[in-house]
Amino acid sequence: PDNVGILAGEVYFPSTYVRQDELEKHDGVPSGKYTVGLGQQGLAFVGDREDAVSMALTALRRLLEKHGVSPLEVGRLEVGTESSIDASKSIKTYLMALFEDAGNTDVEGVDCVQACYGGTAAVQNAANWVESRSWDGRFAVVVMTDISLYPAGPARPTSGAGAVALLIGPDAPLALERGLSVTHMAHAYDFYKPSGLYPAVDGPLSVYCYLSTLDTLYARYSAKWEKRNGRAFRLDDADHALFHAPYNKLVQKAFARLMYHDICKYGDVPATLAGTAGGDLKDGSHPRPPMQMPTELERALVTYSFPTYDKKVRPSTCVARQCGNMYTASIWSGIPQLIETTGAALEGRRILLYSYGSGMSATMFSLVGRATETPRFALGRLQATSDLAMRLARRVPKSPEDFEQAMQLAEQRYCAGNYKPEMPSLEELEPGTFYLVEVDARYRRAYARK
Ligand code: ACO
Repeated sequence: PDNVGILAGEVYFPSTYVRQDELEKHDGVPSGKYTVGLGQQGLAFVGDREDAVSMALTALRRLLEKHGVSPLEVGRLEVGTESSIDASKSIKTYLMALFEDAGNTDVEGVDCVQACYGGTAAVQNAANWVESRSWDGRFAVVVMTDISLYPAGPARPTSGAGAVALLIGPDAPLALERGLSVTHMAHAYDFYKPSGLYPAVDGPLSVYCYLSTLDTLYARYSAKWEKRNGRAFRLDDADHALFHAPYNKLVQKAFARLMYHDICKYGDVPATLAGTAGGDLKDGSHPRPPMQMPTELERALVTYSFPTYDKKVRPSTCVARQCGNMYTASIWSGIPQLIETTGAALEGRRILLYSYGSGMSATMFSLVGRATETPRFALGRLQATSDLAMRLARRVPKSPEDFEQAMQLAEQRYCAGNYKPEMPSLEELEPGTFYLVEVDARYRRAYARK
């Protein structure tokens, strides 16, 4: 089959969130530290009534219902997560409840676990399956679901929660550009979860790994592109760019860095940067990656790239800015947003994606928007039924104290059995949300839908 890619996507985020400006006040940090310094507006969190399974169920059910996909039409289902609730039983097996009821248990795939990257690995598996001789003509579905929790301190405001469900198949309105994907995998201890609820994280190292891997992959992607197209790749060749989004400031820096690579390569040095480069950008006498970029140059680049960022990146960053780091779901939350904001105008446009997971694993690849042969998943139709911005606006903020209470509850409930969830009240969940009813003495979880 041709033009395999994303046919439709749905995002779920919990209705409970806290505003970052309120968190700044509560944490006693200078005003602007989280909202400007990290570029974040809100932080979505769950009480004990929702977990990675319930969020995945909600996102998946939304995808199937909203796009009229019968569970019988799905032949592969895979989950990307780093918030597993069990060291053996996959989240995918919980999701099978939605398929069993319809009489379909012939569904391949399990979970992909790797920090922030498992969803991308699952998308690769799903697309490869559709293109392979194993394909039986049915759709593949990938669900990314994560709850990001950090201990009190500078990393906590980068917590978040959310899930994304993607439908994968041929004749896609957003088709994967085959043969251009590039990967970098290596061993690093920037962020990992050796024990307990919270990760062991080296913040500065994780930022360094994220940005230096971006450098590596941009060069690799450009080289592959050049080999195929007979001319060099420039950022102008991408109409949109999506990045893994731990916090928005890092996304701004990442985009600025790609512009910086083009400037170095093509020598069109803007006057505003000439004085801050700490050396000549053209002759390479300034510090180059993987050296740490001088702060002054980094800031000048972010400012310089802002108008282009506004056009190419901002339209896909709203969920991540308002919900925080959703780990595997972060980058993929940008796709339904881009469809909502841009619709059929995406036809003929290229979307460049940078998916990064600590530890470390990363892939840069691209999608191309196209007019589909059949109208079922046409971009205009997807846009017309999208309600993301409306759902974000409907949320009512909770207080920083509520957030703290939820964090305490998460610590208490971690690996616990024999309890009935208490937070938030059922009234606070949006209709259609799956929730945890109880965890029994044998740690078996029961879910229901509001
Ligand atoms: N007003 C405006 N900006 C401010 C203010 C203020 N009042 N105070 C500080 N800032 C700016 C700083 O200048 C800095 O900006 P810069 O990055 O442009 O230099 C920014 O806020 C961050 O402040 P720092 O003091 O540098 O860092 P902080 O101690 O807040 O920690 C960190 C940030 C390391 C990202 C931390 O939140 C963390 O460890 N997060 C988890 C790890 C993470 O997300 N890593 C990213 C990739 S890996 C992954 O996805 C998990």
